[in-house]
Amino acid sequence: MTKGLTQAVSMKQILDLVRDDLKRVEAAIGLETVGSVSAIKTISHHMHSAGGKRLRPILVLLSSRLVKSSSQTTDEAIQLAAVVELIHTSTLVHDDVIDEAKTRRGAPSANALWGNQMSVLAGDWLYMQAFQIAMRQRNFAILDLLIGLTQVMVEGEFLQMERLGKIDISETDYMELVDRKTASLFSACCRLGAMAGNASEEDCARLGDFAWNLGMAFQMIDDILDFTSKETILGKPVGNDLAEGKVTLPLLYALTETTREETRSIETILKDRSYERVPFSRVLEIIEKYRGVERAQERAVQFTGRARQIIETFPDSAYRKAVLTIADIVTDRDR
Ligand code: IPE
Ligand code: IPE
Ligand code: MG
Ligand code: MG
Repeated sequence: MTKGLTQAVSMKQILDLVRDDLKRVEAAIGLETVGSVSAIKTISHHMHSAGGKRLRPILVLLSSRLVKSSSQTTDEAIQLAAVVELIHTSTLVHDDVIDEAKTRRGAPSANALWGNQMSVLAGDWLYMQAFQIAMRQRNFAILDLLIGLTQVMVEGEFLQMERLGKIDISETDYMELVDRKTASLFSACCRLGAMAGNASEEDCARLGDFAWNLGMAFQMIDDILDFTSKETILGKPVGNDLAEGKVTLPLLYALTETTREETRSIETILKDRSYERVPFSRVLEIIEKYRGVERAQERAVQFTGRARQIIETFPDSAYRKAVLTIADIVTDRDR
């Protein structure tokens, strides 16, 4: 079987486990995003109907079941799955404004269609909608987690902005950023799922740790795909990170060995914020010469390896198998 087909089969098995629950999540998102202002309705609908892998709500659902032997997913888990997808979507809307990205989920981005001002407001609205749903649980531990998470994610975007255009980014700087902007949300997803399954604090922490490692790998692969994929497959721009001034892992590794001339060509792109003087193909050559992609991939696999180790400490079940499969898919995905 080809890689794509093997993945499609594994993903289908996971979806079979959560299909009905995901429908309930979609219904919760759909109902909840019906704002009374038509612009909010239109932008929310555009974002949610354009696809998206729904990986974060799936993680909430799977972890709530992994820790609990009951035959039904609790309403709390469904609501929290809707909450994380809403938070994720609102960060994407804001992220595309910041990154000036023109496509998202295979369609024009909200900012491309409605401009920055409306997109920022719609993102805010979606954020608050997430908190509105979360509030219904009347659970301070959940609110505490979500508020802390939101602040950490915003800090991540700030850190990223401070570093735009800088060529001397260390692996530690990079990891710090990925921790905040992506791994923190993954971690929260599994933690919330475990909380909804009434797991012990120790199990909540362990699942959170699993998902944190998964999230680190997920962002590393996202950064690799920004160099290696195609916009038609990815559904969002390719080559955008460097053109926005971001030095990510594959390039960061290559830059530890580049010649003066090669370093200078990367500096030119960072300065110009475009591939006008140095083409994207030149960047790909440099990365390839120093095995930047392979090295970043190896690093991502270390994180998923750690994630696997953690999840294997839980008793075997269909749900444990499903999250293990997600760990495989994350490092092997093409979108
Ligand atoms: C995109 O996340 C943002 C990153 C953390 C890289 P996804 O790749 O999960 O986006 P959707 O939800 O499938 O569109
Ligand atoms: C994703 O960062 C982090 C978020 C919290 C949105 P990116 O800027 O790499 O995400 P994409 O590539 O635009 O999805
Ligand atoms: Mg972006
Ligand atoms: Mg990206």
